Amino acid sequence: MPEKAVLSFRKKKIELDVYQGTQKELAIDITKLRAKTGMITLDPGYGNTGSAMSDITFVNGEKGILKFRGYRVEELAEHSRFVEVAYLILFGKLPNRDEYQKFSHLLEEHTALHSSLEHHFNGFPDNAPPMAILSAMLNATACYHPELLDTELDAQNFLTASTKILSKVRTIAAMSYRRSNGFPIIYPNHQLKYCANFLHMMFSQPYREYEVDPVVERALNIFFLVHADHEQNCSASTVRMVSSSRANLFSSVAAGVCALWGPLHGGANTEVIKMLQSIYKEKKSADAIITMAKDKKSKFRLMGFGHRVYKNFDPRARILKKQVDEVYKILKISDPLLDIAKSLEEKALQDEYFIERKLYPNVDFYSGLLLRAIGIPLNMFTVMFAIGRCPGWMAHWKELLDHNQRIVRPRQIYMGVVERKFIPIEERE
Ligand SMILES: CC(C)(COP(=O)(O)OP(=O)(O)OC[C@H]1O[C@@H](n2cnc3c(N)ncnc32)[C@H](O)[C@@H]1OP(=O)(O)O)[C@@H](O)C(=O)NCCC(=O)NCCS
Repeated sequence: MPEKAVLSFRKKKIELDVYQGTQKELAIDITKLRAKTGMITLDPGYGNTGSAMSDITFVNGEKGILKFRGYRVEELAEHSRFVEVAYLILFGKLPNRDEYQKFSHLLEEHTALHSSLEHHFNGFPDNAPPMAILSAMLNATACYHPELLDTELDAQNFLTASTKILSKVRTIAAMSYRRSNGFPIIYPNHQLKYCANFLHMMFSQPYREYEVDPVVERALNIFFLVHADHEQNCSASTVRMVSSSRANLFSSVAAGVCALWGPLHGGANTEVIKMLQSIYKEKKSADAIITMAKDKKSKFRLMGFGHRVYKNFDPRARILKKQVDEVYKILKISDPLLDIAKSLEEKALQDEYFIERKLYPNVDFYSGLLLRAIGIPLNMFTVMFAIGRCPGWMAHWKELLDHNQRIVRPRQIYMGVVERKFIPIEERE
């Protein structure tokens, strides 16, 4: 029997079930609230709303803990690779050797796009934002797989659909980059692993094969891996909302891409670099930037700082910061933007404003610097986040359908005019 919470209002008292998660988090079940009281809850931004019971990812923002299917992200980043973690997130367990080989094989099998799909790229202007291309191309890809558009995919079809998406996002991303730079398309090399193959499709030329540096390959693996899921964030919630209408996997993931695009979500990694570039160009001091971030009138925020959930530190930021230090050292890169980032971080972490509001560097603060070091252009940063986040989006799509969740349909408190009488246009002022 669940424990009860009591809600009392205007002499009426009702009992509500309280559920406890495996990590001892408590939630009041309000699914019967409206039926019993006529009231709804109000929580714009959903900061206090549990939208699902989920087995995929655990985040403890106070303690800075992130676990995928029970494994700490730090441990996965140290010992695992993106493809293995993608399997873990999608299927709930780390793959054994056979499962891993089969999964990797499917990823390589599905890399290429249907030749007709390649023509779609020509329809975009040269300066089309790669996030727009990615979401449009995901929906276009769906047209070539009508057998995978069902929401009742059996295990085999889910494996096929998810490996197609995970594999093809990489190809679409690389093609959009090459298209916007006027470079010829480079086809996948089936000898290469997931990240190496992506780098090859991005940077090889017909006359010169790109040599994949293992340091760069490892850094990219870690970049994708730390982004693989983050429970009910804006884009995952978008995917869940879309899939609750029983939309197919391709279009639900495309919706996730659109949600990720915004600067307050995945777009923040780009904004961080733009901010660092402008500080460098305009020779601003770290102190001046911190002062501006604290000034509400300026509307400026220190990009890459703050998080809705993490109120202590973001474990992903720590992993990426370590990677940045390693990659810059091994590849002997010196980047003034890294120095600016470090001095901003140092100042902010000592500043009362940031301490009081528990604002720490988030995943985006160092991710852009890592991508810069491995040669990814700025306009591709959010697409890189999207590639990494695909396993999470697809696992959420599946989980929602497995739980047979009702269509998502929040309520509202209407604050508009109560009633008006229609006035013909001739009589209106
Ligand atoms: C991530 C983010 C959207 C979280 O938003 P949120 O949970 O709604 O937090 P709020 O916007 O309510 O912020 C709480 C307080 O901290 C301040 N704050 C939050 N992030 C800030 C930042 N990056 N710089 C300066 N002030 C910030 C807010 O102004 C607010 O101050 P107030 O209490 O005086 O009004 C927000 O911290 C932000 O915009 N960060 C920069 C963008 C970013 O890096 N996004 C990537 C997220 S992974």
